Amino acid sequence: MTNNIILIGFMGVGKGRTARALAAATGRFAIDTDDLIESFLKTKIRTLFAEQGEPAFRQVEQQAADWVEQRVQGTIISSGGGFFMVDNLARLGRVVYLHSSLKGILAALRQHPDAGRKIKKRPLLQDKDKAKQLFRTRLPLYRQAAEYEVNVEGRKSSEVAAEIKEWLIREGVV
Ligand code: S3P
Repeated sequence: MTNNIILIGFMGVGKGRTARALAAATGRFAIDTDDLIESFLKTKIRTLFAEQGEPAFRQVEQQAADWVEQRVQGTIISSGGGFFMVDNLARLGRVVYLHSSLKGILAALRQHPDAGRKIKKRPLLQDKDKAKQLFRTRLPLYRQAAEYEVNVEGRKSSEVAAEIKEWLIREGVV
């Protein structure tokens, strides 16, 4: 077992923020799969989507998952909203699903001081109806892929991290 903790969930739900809070709470480091991809390709995900399309992105996402499986241990890993579809997810570590309603996610994004950039950088969030459909399709899949679900709506990331940490302690992971 790799002893990693993987945070999955819809775009904008706060996976990166929660990963950093969980890292602080557990004394581990946190990494983010989208950051790994951007540094590996030296390009923004938004540009990759625009120039090569979503399938190219999914391919490199799988490459990132393979790299994590071979190289990363004992780390908190936040992931892109579609990362849970990689074929080796369960082998990467313990999987936690961060849940919020889509309404809650969009409201929190809009309230953010850097809302424009936060929305613009996410190609799959540009069309609200499509995002709604994607959320509906993915919700049962996130739940199926995860071992633990935590509700994040209206909660501070430190609170969410504390709940995940309790679960990890019960599971003997930390
Ligand atoms: C995606 C989510 C994004 C990013 C890419 C695709 C998705 O990450 O990986 O735009 O398929 O849901 P965030 O969840 O951090 O927005």
